[in-house]
Amino acid sequence: MIDLWTIIEDSFEPKKQHHKETIFTIGNGYLCTRGAFEEGYPDDHRATFIHGVFDAAPIVFTELANAPDWLPITVYLNSERFSLDTGTIESFQRTLDLRTGLLKREVRWRSPSGTTATLTFERFASLADEHLLYIRCRVTPEFAGTVEFRAGLNGNMHNEGLVHFQWQGQGKQDDVIYLHNRTRKSGIEIGTAMQITNVVGREVIREDWDVQNAPTRMVRVEAVPGQTVGIDKRVAVFTSREFYSADVVTVAVHRAREAASWESALEVSKQAWAEEWDRTDVIIEGDNEAQIAIRFNLFQMLIAAPRHDDRVNIGAKTLSGFGYRGHAFWDTEIFMLPLFIYTAPHIAKNLLNYRYRNLPGARRKAQANGFEGAQFPWESADTGDEVTPTWVPHFAEPTKLVRIWTGDIEIHISADIAHAAYQYWQATGDDDWFIELGAELILDTAKFWASRAEWNAEKDRYEYNDVIGPDEYHEHVDNNAYTNRMAQWNLQTALEVLEWLKKHAPKKAKALMKQLDLNQKRLETWGEVIEKIYLHIAPNGLIEQFEGYYQRKDIDLATLEPRTKSAQEIFGIEGCNETQILKQPDVLMLLYVLRNDYLGEIVQVNYDYYMPRIDHTYGSSLGPSIMAIMACEVGKPDDAYEHFIRAVRADLRDVRGNAGDGIHAASAGGTWQSVVFGFGGLRVTSDGWTAKPRLPKHWKRLSFKFFHHGKMQEVDIKGK
Ligand code: BGC
Repeated sequence: MIDLWTIIEDSFEPKKQHHKETIFTIGNGYLCTRGAFEEGYPDDHRATFIHGVFDAAPIVFTELANAPDWLPITVYLNSERFSLDTGTIESFQRTLDLRTGLLKREVRWRSPSGTTATLTFERFASLADEHLLYIRCRVTPEFAGTVEFRAGLNGNMHNEGLVHFQWQGQGKQDDVIYLHNRTRKSGIEIGTAMQITNVVGREVIREDWDVQNAPTRMVRVEAVPGQTVGIDKRVAVFTSREFYSADVVTVAVHRAREAASWESALEVSKQAWAEEWDRTDVIIEGDNEAQIAIRFNLFQMLIAAPRHDDRVNIGAKTLSGFGYRGHAFWDTEIFMLPLFIYTAPHIAKNLLNYRYRNLPGARRKAQANGFEGAQFPWESADTGDEVTPTWVPHFAEPTKLVRIWTGDIEIHISADIAHAAYQYWQATGDDDWFIELGAELILDTAKFWASRAEWNAEKDRYEYNDVIGPDEYHEHVDNNAYTNRMAQWNLQTALEVLEWLKKHAPKKAKALMKQLDLNQKRLETWGEVIEKIYLHIAPNGLIEQFEGYYQRKDIDLATLEPRTKSAQEIFGIEGCNETQILKQPDVLMLLYVLRNDYLGEIVQVNYDYYMPRIDHTYGSSLGPSIMAIMACEVGKPDDAYEHFIRAVRADLRDVRGNAGDGIHAASAGGTWQSVVFGFGGLRVTSDGWTAKPRLPKHWKRLSFKFFHHGKMQEVDIKGK
């Protein structure tokens, strides 16, 4: 029987180590740790990222700081160091149990001098107590002598060269070893405490080595052929983000000391996982690859999702890599949030609260640009200020710099956030939240849109010029359809919301009208922008992506094959800008996001036009999951499957060659939408929900659950 819950790696390929470190990331919504080996490997990208632990960095403003490493365990077989880059790997297997979050590696290894043993390493981050981390190491020697374990904490970590954590102290309390560090600029304290328990085997010697910033406990046991020996290591981590006044070291030491044994901790963590999967799992029968892969993508979402903190968001690479520095984009609201809105509304609320809490940053951005209301940053971190780098090294010629415009002019994110707040409200019926927080997000972004609109008297219309839409192959365009229509939606919805508030929460309506200065004149302007915003829709329903799009060079993408590069790499940034090739589909995205407003024919005509112009394999990883849904919408579930499988494989198969930088979070979140809104055909409107299945031919069953107004719903579809 094939195990449909396990990711398996059967051989160790050093060239793929960064990719595999990403794949074997574990975590618990507080932190994630990449799948680097306990004993290390040359050029590994070992990293633990903790939500919200940002520190200043050149060019990118701020980045998640690579936290002190809790993994180190080096093993010595008769004084020879176990290491995969020496000796012989007789067998190797690594498995990630998605059901429980347990990562296991089993290696039979022969040292250069011929000493052989089977080593197993297991680790998990407790989902039941997010501050606790566990590793179990077992060694079955095929020799007599000793096995030595050196287990430590290592504060000498860096982000690709940049050191964020400074050493503050270390020591021992009773049997617990601790390390104390602090980020250089942001001043976040972190306490890491470790205890070694459950020593299996006859202990010969034990020593504590007080190496600065890398305290280590050594335990040497007797080796008898065939008799398994080992240690358990448990680690507690706390930062000053959780405990403003308490001493993080004291808390960490206490927790490490009091923590349950491996067995009990694993048991309660498994229970917590079972609860998560009960809500989140998607069952696909008739397609084992899709089944495992969708679970992998959901697992990656679940380990990155903050459960107890509403001051953080999920970065575009989750907490699994250095890519995008932990910054959050529209990826959260459009691609990841629907999963949480429908399966874990408490997590969706945390993510939306993060945006609410960061309204001051969005207001600062609007003001700095001469606008009103809330203009959310394209890239967001801890303060809610814009943190998109302005210049970055060119992808092909790193000595050249490229100007990044997204932070200046990719403005649609403000409407995406408003839309997400509205979705959450509609799906959950959480009026309290909406009245207290959500409504303000929609009203203040509307205020921004009205002030950003440009009146063109000659053409008698409002415009948004010089923007970037979701399709980033085209910069500095005028009247991008996605941006204009989403702005209109934001304004329209704001007016409706205000009416709703006046009726259902008059005090709040009054307070917000005063606070945001929503006077009659302003609301009239909103009405005018809604009415006169420019949208180019041909009589047959074809929407022009931006003004002048059809005049760009129309390239037949088939003529570029075979290729291994994106269209942007082939034509260059400016060259690609001059073509109609899309990094990801603006117009189809729009029809998807506002799917309750658009019906069949308009979808078909735009699908037919834009689909062949998308850089499917090498463009944005955000596209495929949405393309799958649109293919379903036009009655092509088998084409949809092509897109879907590309999306679920994005990281597992390293489709774009950059999975080593971290999980493509939007793609992962989008896969759930492909299945539920695409193949399952789920539609949720103010009247309730319907499901109109359109499964790929070979699927025998699709089943999923979701919450609607607080009640769990179940959809179970049989294939033909
Ligand atoms: C995409 C954006 C996305 C960002 C982060 C870019 O390559 O074009 O849409 O928000 O990556 O994932």
